[in-house]
Amino acid sequence: KDTPVTGPKRVLLAAPRGYCAGVDRAVVAVEKALDHYGAPVYVRKQIVHNIHVVRELEKKGAIFVDEVDEVPAGSHIVFSAHGVSPAVVNAAAERGLRAIDATCPLVTKVHREAVRFASKDLQILLIGHEGHEEVEGTAGEAPEHTTLVGSPEEADTVVVRDPDKVVWLSQTTLSVDETMETVRRLRARFPNLQDPPSDDICYATQNRQVAIRKVAEDADLVIVVGSANSSNTMRLVDVALEYGAKAAYRVDYSSEIKQEWLDGVSTVGVTSGASVPEELVQEVLEDLAGAGYGTVQQVKTAEEDLMFSLPKELRTDSSGAQ
Ligand code: F3S
Repeated sequence: KDTPVTGPKRVLLAAPRGYCAGVDRAVVAVEKALDHYGAPVYVRKQIVHNIHVVRELEKKGAIFVDEVDEVPAGSHIVFSAHGVSPAVVNAAAERGLRAIDATCPLVTKVHREAVRFASKDLQILLIGHEGHEEVEGTAGEAPEHTTLVGSPEEADTVVVRDPDKVVWLSQTTLSVDETMETVRRLRARFPNLQDPPSDDICYATQNRQVAIRKVAEDADLVIVVGSANSSNTMRLVDVALEYGAKAAYRVDYSSEIKQEWLDGVSTVGVTSGASVPEELVQEVLEDLAGAGYGTVQQVKTAEEDLMFSLPKELRTDSSGAQ
């Protein structure tokens, strides 16, 4: 238990970390909808995969539902950042709901690619996690043309109709390395596999992975702030371990940090997923300072200044909102 600490205690704080442009836009969309229309505003699924964000919006009057049939006709409903299939959009319209689409524009881009490839009668090998909302939305654009590939191993066994008419797409929040491995294995079997025109793994996912790789090289322990159902958060834990962290844990709140994680640790790496408010990271830093890790060095690997405009339904001024 009393393993001696080998170097001075310090924190390496990854940057970029935390909120991406798509999450910021989605959270602001719910807040603006509450301002414009008054509570309650319904939100289909968690607006972003972070329990703290969801709880805070609930306090302000947001009601989170699983499906549109739980929402009273005529209400406003916000679609989450992860996107929805056309079937959900249609179901909301049939119910007379007034939809505000907070789908991240970078997810919408993948939806458009799916539609375009399906119109060329290509089979889409969609790399992603089964059951994740984003995957359900993207696959729902072209269900007949889409086959899910959940891992590099599944690339070895996936069945295709015509090996000369296949293209891959991916979820936006995967591990870059693992996705490239999946594509490599697919291409080994299907040399004519087509690539999407640009990366589907978004800038925020990539930047956060690059930063934590650098931190992990020097960290005894990495703490990733984020929720368990957040894909990009879980990938940060995986990447930290792959790139040299001796241990890596995810916490929603600083209070979940266990004393024994710090035994013998001199360097703690800290980062957060793309749906995590910075205040939760600051609480972790305060608690670490209390445990002797008061020296914080930022490890910055990229600048981010991307911002998305609000969903079009909210771009009117407040007097024009209905
Ligand atoms: Fe969009 Fe990437 Fe964030 S897809 S919601 S910018 S994690």
